[in-house]
Amino acid sequence: MRTIVTGASGLLGRHVAEALLAAGHDVLGIDTVAPLGGAWPHATADLADLGSTLQLVRDCDAVVHVAAIPRPTGRAGGEVFRTNVATAYNVVEAAAMAGIKRFVYASSFSVFGYPFFEKTVVPPYLPVDMNHPVGAQDPYGLSKWLGEEIVDAAVRRGAFSAVSIRMPWIQTPQTFFAGVGPRRATADSARDLWAYLDARDAGQGFLRALEWRGEGHLRVLLSAADTFMEEETEALMRRVYPGVALSRPIAGFGSVLDTAHARETIGFAPEHSWRAYQKPETEG
Ligand SMILES: NC(=O)c1ccc[n+]([C@@H]2O[C@H](COP(=O)([O-])OP(=O)(O)OC[C@H]3O[C@@H](n4cnc5c(N)ncnc54)[C@H](O)[C@@H]3O)[C@@H](O)[C@H]2O)c1
Repeated sequence: MRTIVTGASGLLGRHVAEALLAAGHDVLGIDTVAPLGGAWPHATADLADLGSTLQLVRDCDAVVHVAAIPRPTGRAGGEVFRTNVATAYNVVEAAAMAGIKRFVYASSFSVFGYPFFEKTVVPPYLPVDMNHPVGAQDPYGLSKWLGEEIVDAAVRRGAFSAVSIRMPWIQTPQTFFAGVGPRRATADSARDLWAYLDARDAGQGFLRALEWRGEGHLRVLLSAADTFMEEETEALMRRVYPGVALSRPIAGFGSVLDTAHARETIGFAPEHSWRAYQKPETEG
């Protein structure tokens, strides 16, 4: 299958491109920067430019739209919003005009409001599933939600079938201890609902989403099977969210993001846990 992966030079896109290549896809990566050592053909383009997007997103069987600015911090909110919404619109529009029939969109659990809220979002119940209300407060979460809605509009008019994939913080053995490690000791860890997703499992999730043969627009939530914490989940929940009801027991370090729906629909089954990551020797 000929598949375009936007954002293929980034953290997630690289893992998606690798998973698709390993499964036999012909991948074309499109990104503003060339990949470091990627084994797939690459085209450099700014997908916020509709003309370039229309010229490049064509002649393929499927499009996986990963490119975006992945957080609202470190840049003007308006730039994050403008880039993410413009690229989503342009890539969806180009895919629709080219008659491409399968579309996968990298969304985020930030559409629920975590982790970038200004006014604290308290989960209405735990574990969080796809029935959790949408409630982004920040320009990034809002852009990811609008991206899903842009996909939905194209599906509604019959352009293609699509899967939108909501994910928590994406990690690799190389990023975890420096990125998540210090945050674990702070109250801010609850902003993430202590959730993460190994980038290799994310890659497999995108492959499964491409293989989904349903009609319409499927939205799924992925997560590692466990939290990034060293305290068991029910104890954490009693300590941080004592008033929040548990809809089912969570054993051990189990994630507070429920991925049963993703398992039932696309067959997602996370295999990697940070508990098996090798801690770099330079760290204490
Ligand atoms: N990193 C996370 O924890 C996380 C969590 C949930 C969802 N996501 C989503 O996953 C996707 C990838 O995130 P990431 O962490 O790999 O980010 P990243 O910054 O590592 O990769 C994003 C890639 O998109 C490219 N890009 C950005 N703007 C572009 C444009 N206008 N035209 C072409 N290419 C452009 C960048 O050059 C980069 O290579 C994003 O859609 C993000 O919202 C990320």
